[in-house]
Parts: sequence; C-alpha cells; structure tokens
Amino acid sequence: MRNLAYYVIVTLIGAVGAVAIAWSSCSELCKQMTTMNYEVKVFIDPGLSHPELNAETLTHVEKMRLAAVAARDLIPEKAAGNLRLTAEYQADIDLLISQIMKMGEALAKNDNVAAIRFLNDIKSLKLEGHGKFKPATIN
Ligand code: HEM
Repeated sequence: MRNLAYYVIVTLIGAVGAVAIAWSSCSELCKQMTTMNYEVKVFIDPGLSHPELNAETLTHVEKMRLAAVAARDLIPEKAAGNLRLTAEYQADIDLLISQIMKMGEALAKNDNVAAIRFLNDIKSLKLEGHGKFKPATIN
C-alpha cells in the first residue's frame, strides 16, 4: 500500500510531463499566442478591475505587446506562401498591437473603463483572427 505522498508526486510528474510535451509540439507562433493568452487571463483581465494594481498590470500589457510584435513575423501555415493572406494576417496583428497600446495608454491614465473597452476589442480581434488563420485542429 503506497502512501498519499507517492500518488501526489506521481500525479505532479505526469502533469509536468504533459505540459512539456504540449509545449514542445507548439510552433513559435503558438508559443507567442500562448504567452498573450497567459498575460490576458492571469494578469490583465483580472487586473483591470483593480486600479490599485495598474502599475503592475501595465508590465503585463508590455509583455503581451512584445508577444504580439513577435507574432507579426511568424506567418501562420494557412497564410504561408500566399502574399494576400500574409498581408491580411500582418494587418490584423498590426491592429491587435495598436489596441494593446491603446489599452496600455488608458491604463497609464488610470482610465480602467476605457482599458476594459480596449480589452473587449482585443477579444473580438482574437476571435476573428482565429476564425481566419488558426487551424481547426487547435482548440
Ligand atoms: C489578430 C489577432 C490574432 C490572430 C490573427 C491569431 C492567430 C493565431 C494562429 C494562426 C494560431 C495558430 C498558431 C500555430 O499553431 O502555429 C493561434 C493560436 C492561438 N492563439 Fe491567436 N491570434 C490572434 C490573437 C490572439 C490573442 C489576442 C490571443 C490571446 C489573448 C490568442 C491566443 C491564442 C492561443 C491560446 C492559441 C493556441 C495555442 C495552442 O495551444 O496551440 N490569439 N492564433
């Protein structure tokens, strides 16, 4: 009969292994997208309703912006080799970058209501961008 600690450790090793396998099969673009998602879900979305955290939330908006800038040059498979689709992808990411910057500017002025509006625009851009460029096999 093994003790509880044994099962906890085996479960943790399994979970870490599963994350490592998922991350290694993630393309460079997928990694930047995953970074944006993490910054939004863990820090930006919850942080925007806490004005006292604005200075810290701004550091996460900057991390998100850097991931979006990196994503601009990582052309998705659906657009690769197609000049029109590549231009459309980069124009969509440019719009995303500009909304991220506007969200940061609003936050710097402690205008959290405006920052939340920009985050909602970003969520719509994400949905549209994924509809056009994200493979159906990735959830
Ligand atoms: C203009 C806006 C966007 C476009 C055109 C876009 C496009 C894409 C594409 C093409 C992929 C597939 C990448 C690959 O597997 O190589 C992807 C994946 C993903 N994107 Fe975006 N995206 C946009 C915005 C966002 C935003 C704002 C977020 C999060 C806040 C986000 C989160 C994700 C996530 C979580 C994945 C899946 C990663 C995975 O588990 O494989 N995307 N996106």
